[in-house]
Amino acid sequence: METQTPNRRHRLVLVPCPLQGHISPMLELGTILLSKGFSITIAHTMFNAPNPSNHPDFSFLPIFDNLSDHDTTTTNLMALGKAINTNCEAPFLKCLARMMEENKSLDQVVWIIYDALVYFAEAVAKSMKLPSIILRTAGACAVLAFDTIPWLQAEGHLPCQDSMLQDLVPSLHPLRFKDLPISKMGSLDDIVQLIMDSRRIRSSSAIIWNTIADLLEHSSLEQLHQCYNVPFFSIGPLHKMAPATSTSLLIEDTDCIEWLDKQAPSSVLYISLGSLATVDKKELAEMAWGLANSGQPFLWVVRPGSVRDSESPEVLPEGFKEKIGERGHVVKWAPQKEVLAHGAVGGFWSHCGWNSTLESICEGVPLICMPYFADQNVNARYLCHVWKVGLELEHGLERSEIEKVVKRLMTDKEGEELRQRAGDMKEKVELCMSEGGSSYKSLNDLAEFILSF
Ligand code: UDX
Repeated sequence: METQTPNRRHRLVLVPCPLQGHISPMLELGTILLSKGFSITIAHTMFNAPNPSNHPDFSFLPIFDNLSDHDTTTTNLMALGKAINTNCEAPFLKCLARMMEENKSLDQVVWIIYDALVYFAEAVAKSMKLPSIILRTAGACAVLAFDTIPWLQAEGHLPCQDSMLQDLVPSLHPLRFKDLPISKMGSLDDIVQLIMDSRRIRSSSAIIWNTIADLLEHSSLEQLHQCYNVPFFSIGPLHKMAPATSTSLLIEDTDCIEWLDKQAPSSVLYISLGSLATVDKKELAEMAWGLANSGQPFLWVVRPGSVRDSESPEVLPEGFKEKIGERGHVVKWAPQKEVLAHGAVGGFWSHCGWNSTLESICEGVPLICMPYFADQNVNARYLCHVWKVGLELEHGLERSEIEKVVKRLMTDKEGEELRQRAGDMKEKVELCMSEGGSSYKSLNDLAEFILSF
């Protein structure tokens, strides 16, 4: 990415949602826009604050979020979102007004760019008469599905009977009812209320998407564009458009790269369920024995706190380590982007968070899809059914099913075909990012759009 002449008269205040899968794309966006010459301030909650030393060219504006330990347990994300939006509006208004007063002499044009989930930032932008832009950190297919939920409820399609879970959703093909981004998210009425709350204050000038319009989600973007009626800038994959900086909240275990260096090309299955999903002890044991019995080399992230009801720090089943020996490597948190780019990695068993989805597509790595909640179900459906680079883990976490699906992906012809398709997609991503490609053009359009104010 070329760096452009500084245009420090425009200060962009970026407001991330304080969860790993949301902080990373916002920081990456900051790095990209910095390289386009804008001044960048990150306004962040105290909870999950980013590390300023990783971004020496940004300014940081802490918001006194007043979140309790109870609020910040990530087991109830709807409640956390509500607490953030309720608690942060007034303190953000105050610290932003102070920052603007202190910088008055610079005569800067201030923009707010905020994660759609932290819509308190939009209320503040509106009250201070500042222009604002939304960053959508989820994919367009998932946002379209989410936005359609109130209509599905009004038309009587939701809530649906269990017997209908495999049926296609009207107006959202190829999604089935089981793929809708509502499972494990709270009651349907709460979800509809959340969608309505975020719509009520919507007045932003544009939306930035972490997606690749010419490759992945063209039709969903078109449909959304008709509803939102503001400029769209699809400038993903952000992590590839931005020079690499660490955006991780947890310490990455880089030793696993040395272990990968010793493995044969495309032989290793990488397993990670992202930053929020959890399993219980029985499910973890099924995963462990399924992996062990598959005979395939694997690198497995078992994140601290990701195994429910486990008091002991040793969560892996007895005898597992002895059985796998050097064939498997388990870490607490991996440098995922580096892992996926490593030649030894030939498959990714993923929860299908949007970042992991993009990171895998960008490196041409096919997936085993095991979604847990929200947009992950939509992403998994697209990976398996539309882009055809994923296999669905259909019958839950059961060791013999796991063993079968690992073999299908890693050693069977079917897996080889998926790997070929994923490799083709990787090449297309590169084209979209290079001069003349859709993401490249859209990024230039975004910079011009901001400068035009
Ligand atoms: C959450 C939701 O689960 C997801 O559906 C939504 O799209 C974004 O927010 P998360 O569970 O964090 O995301 O998944 P994902 O979007 O995939 O983001 C995880 C990030 O953590 C990725 O960027 C990944 O590279 C990183 N990661 C994960 C690591 O760096 N190391 C690891 O060991 C595991």
